[in-house]
Amino acid sequence: MCGIVGYVGRQPAVDILMEGLRRLEYRGYDSAGVATIAPDHTLDIRKSAGRIDRLAARLDEAPVSGTIGIGHTRWATHGPATDGNAHPHVGGHGVLAIAHNGVIDNFAAIKGRLIQEGYQFQSATDSEVIAHLIADCLAEELPAGLNGSTAREVAASGYAPLVRAMSAALAQLNGTYGLVVLFRDFPEVILAARLGSPLVVGVGDNEHFVASDPSPLVGHTDKIVYLADHELAVVTADDLKVVHRDQGHVDHNVQVLEFESGDVDRGGYAHYMLKEIFEQPETIRNTMRGRLSRDEATAVLGGLNLSPGDLRAVDRLLLTACGTSWHAALVGEYLCEEFARLPVEVEYASELRYRNPPLEKNTLLFAITQSGETADTLAALREVKRKGHPTLAICNVVGSTIAQEAAGGIYLHAGPEIGVASTKAFTSQCVALTLLALYLGRLRHLSFGQGMQIIDRLQELPDKVAQALESNDAIREIAEKYYQCGNFLYLGRQYNFPVALEGALKLKEISYIHAEGYPAAEMKHGPIALVDENTPSVFLMPQGLVYEKVMANLEEIRARGGPVIAVVDEGDTRAAALADDVIYVPNVADFLQPIVSVIPLQLLAYHIAVLRGCDVDRPRNLAKSVTVE
Ligand code: M6R
Repeated sequence: MCGIVGYVGRQPAVDILMEGLRRLEYRGYDSAGVATIAPDHTLDIRKSAGRIDRLAARLDEAPVSGTIGIGHTRWATHGPATDGNAHPHVGGHGVLAIAHNGVIDNFAAIKGRLIQEGYQFQSATDSEVIAHLIADCLAEELPAGLNGSTAREVAASGYAPLVRAMSAALAQLNGTYGLVVLFRDFPEVILAARLGSPLVVGVGDNEHFVASDPSPLVGHTDKIVYLADHELAVVTADDLKVVHRDQGHVDHNVQVLEFESGDVDRGGYAHYMLKEIFEQPETIRNTMRGRLSRDEATAVLGGLNLSPGDLRAVDRLLLTACGTSWHAALVGEYLCEEFARLPVEVEYASELRYRNPPLEKNTLLFAITQSGETADTLAALREVKRKGHPTLAICNVVGSTIAQEAAGGIYLHAGPEIGVASTKAFTSQCVALTLLALYLGRLRHLSFGQGMQIIDRLQELPDKVAQALESNDAIREIAEKYYQCGNFLYLGRQYNFPVALEGALKLKEISYIHAEGYPAAEMKHGPIALVDENTPSVFLMPQGLVYEKVMANLEEIRARGGPVIAVVDEGDTRAAALADDVIYVPNVADFLQPIVSVIPLQLLAYHIAVLRGCDVDRPRNLAKSVTVE
């Protein structure tokens, strides 16, 4: 939630900031702003409610200069999306500017005190207190203000007074922050700090970048430093120093960033979501790459950091997540129960964190998350960890907070997911959970032969997904028929029940149409009352154990005049004769059906949203990673 970018180097900062903000816009897009320091030591700030294009227009009218600056794209928490509430915020009558991602819980008390001390607030945000608080602490550090020699001394000390002032301010905050600070009188340094909100530093040649995630770095540098909680970075064009709250100066680990430009642009597609849907054959391959052993007929999951003995001792799995990742967890429940015969519980992270369920001694937790930053999922992981249980993660974003705090896990390797609606992450999560179920199963009941059968099916999967994508044109035509409907039902059973939930969520979030996902048989216990000629029901009914049962449910809907869109296996003439519209998917083993049958639902939601004129990649009220509770 909210994107931060900072630059210090030799190039015009505003170009890099604006490019970075466009790449980060998926994190929040209700207002944006930049601050630079002009060569004459003026703090120049431009900000605007609305999308980044409006900020760009404002910059065209009133350009800014300088080779150092910070920028922010906002998802409002405190105060509506207005120019005044947009970041950066100025502290201490113009001595500094900040951009903040996170929430400050005790802002009201601090604000009250600062107002009494004479600070004037311009916004309704919690973030503005950080600006004035740092300015207040800085005034204590440098009571006589600055003259030329003091500024040089401060720089020569490694900006020690600035670091002390910022540390003193941060110590007073309760909450979370990813934070960048620009000081008017020190036009060569950015201070950056994180607690609970991600922040990375890109290391270039005579330049550094700071950002909420790696995407603004792409095309500029492939050297990246992931800051950890309680770390504060002192960033100049030529130098990077990291200070930890408790440990003082710490060595920073420069890693290689694996993204390429193609990962963060739309690559010829109209939207990121469509690009990401079509990437799925490849992203699924990447999730499996190097993780299938035909010699052992099992999965290779070295990142779990638990021995086979440890894993055999596990009596219960607890899977926790939010949103689409929670739907993947439900698929994981079916998989692990079937392959490993392990009891599995799936919990919304937002419920788990406060529910305090009795956890059996040998319970192993998996937090499932694309971003690795979801506040509720992180809090649930910490709570279970605090109780002494091993906590692992299935995560896409390398170096994210959850990836760092988990004792191990499985990276998805699906590449950056930028569309707010999760697509490729879901299918990769299902693949990762299949690998996990296979691995745990082979430690328990599955024979070598059964393991090999699962591997064979998995290896066919990317081609099957590519085949499912071939229905795109047919799905667009179906979308044209139904896009004006106000309600949809999504129905499936067993492995396809979570897919029904996911199909409904996709439609809701990007087209703003009300949709419900249900187990197909449950529909007659209430939701069937919704059925009329304007309420299409999307049935997930590939061949398998419950095909006939779902067919009976389909008849019940038809008997009440509801239109039916059926997702069926190729060659299924029976369903085709009954349904109003049919979408064919290739036949796969039942445990892989979620990965194939979700594809047409992603495409259906996409085309309906486009036809309704919705902003597919940036749906209203949403943001990509939900870092507030
Ligand atoms: O990054 P995470 O997987 O933890 O995010 C969880 C949800 O916020 C996310 O899946 C959300 O529901 C998506 N917008 C769904 O498309």
